[in-house]
Amino acid sequence: MTRPSRRQVLIAGLGLGASATLAACSGDAAAPARPTTFPPPEPLTASAGQSVTTARLTARPVTLDLGGRTVPTWAYADSVPGPTLRASAGDLLRVTLDNQLPADTTVHWHGVRLRPEADGVPGLTQDPVRTGENFLYEFIAPDPGTYFFHPHVGTQLDRGLYAPLIIDDPAEPGDYDLEWILVLDDWIDGTGTTPDEVLEQLVADGASGTGMQHGSMSGMDHGSMSAGQGGAPWGADTGDVAHPHHLINGKLPTAPEVLEARAGQRVRLRIISAASDSIFAVALGGHRMRVIHTDGWPVSPVDADGIYIGMGERYDAVVTLGSGVFPLVARPVGKSTGGQGLAVVRTATGALPAADVTPSELDGKILVGSQLEPDDSARLPAKSPDISAALTLGGSMAPYVWTINGAPYGQNEPLRVAHGQRLRLNARNRTMMPHPLHLHGHTFALPNGLRKDTLLMAPMESVALDLDADNPGDWMIHCHNIYHAEAGMMIDLRYT
Ligand code: C2O
Ligand code: CU
Repeated sequence: MTRPSRRQVLIAGLGLGASATLAACSGDAAAPARPTTFPPPEPLTASAGQSVTTARLTARPVTLDLGGRTVPTWAYADSVPGPTLRASAGDLLRVTLDNQLPADTTVHWHGVRLRPEADGVPGLTQDPVRTGENFLYEFIAPDPGTYFFHPHVGTQLDRGLYAPLIIDDPAEPGDYDLEWILVLDDWIDGTGTTPDEVLEQLVADGASGTGMQHGSMSGMDHGSMSAGQGGAPWGADTGDVAHPHHLINGKLPTAPEVLEARAGQRVRLRIISAASDSIFAVALGGHRMRVIHTDGWPVSPVDADGIYIGMGERYDAVVTLGSGVFPLVARPVGKSTGGQGLAVVRTATGALPAADVTPSELDGKILVGSQLEPDDSARLPAKSPDISAALTLGGSMAPYVWTINGAPYGQNEPLRVAHGQRLRLNARNRTMMPHPLHLHGHTFALPNGLRKDTLLMAPMESVALDLDADNPGDWMIHCHNIYHAEAGMMIDLRYT
């Protein structure tokens, strides 16, 4: 296979010079001053009748069996994914993080409209949690849905530090027999390198200008259109890292998780992407799936052969099981290495599918999430925006710098909003790569009303995103490609 020549990244109008540096990542003095210490959050007491969910989360190094391959990594409670945390909407969650990692860490409750003190962004909402320290996260999870949690420090998300967070809807009938949580991931940690080394290599390759042509051991991936779905509709260049493995629920496709069920049962899939650099096309062989929620919000149900899912996105879908043994495949889009993720549903006897099985559904209609229509209950009230702000995504491989509004994080101007305003973000992707754009502490509405907290934006796509500023604090907006985020593709949203 031929490698495309150096990525043609458009940095129209950004004025980003070759001298741009990673001030935000290196703690360079050019970064604006921030508070250096935060008081511990005010304790929350449960109100009358409010349920409390308590958990303790130990983060520490572990040797993990991916199913025939053993890797050293970092995990919650010694497992990948970590244990599912579950509560009902409106409950008070009290989770103690016990940091036994050889590094600072935090926990971010991805997608939850929680109080800012519990959002887990070091330097913005809390101090980093040092090795040997505990931190108590107390928050109310107001909205039902499928969420997950992960650190908000460096590239730690690309280790094994992630787990599902499910907020049940006490009012939902639950029109299904079984539930299956599927956490998708791209894996490189402990395979001879670490995510931190991968990022260093991307930056070094960018600085020397050699990475793209020669591909380095840390794995620049310049996938062609030949892998599965090809890159469409996400472009030919969907990621920067050649993860050697793709996992579902922590397992390699040679040792997949198997859901034992009965034909005729209705299964609710809760699909979560904890990947760092990979978009997946997901399909269940022999079945169509009825997509019912994205990022926790109900949609007008749609039947599809499969879905695309970007890093940080979630989709819930219902399937009625046939009789047999069926592969659930997560195929990385536009990447040529690392195989695919696989899990299996079994309702009858039969052999397990091969690790590289291609369900014919992958050649069918794969849903692009932004084309979903919201359920009416998910719509923002009609209102025209009080203010608007540009949110322009840019960047380059050499130097390896990714930007929002013309500069990497720490050098860009925070966005500002006042409590109660409707803010319109005019998001524009001015690069030839897709980027999953994620907003903390709020959700936004697309022009058709679809509510999300993570939107996979195609190359050169523009979209207006409306949000209600109803949760005062300091929040982040960033690309959920963890390598892009660490190389600057983040910005603050601050309440004035
Ligand atoms: Cu899951 Cu700031 O991210
Ligand atoms: Cu990105």
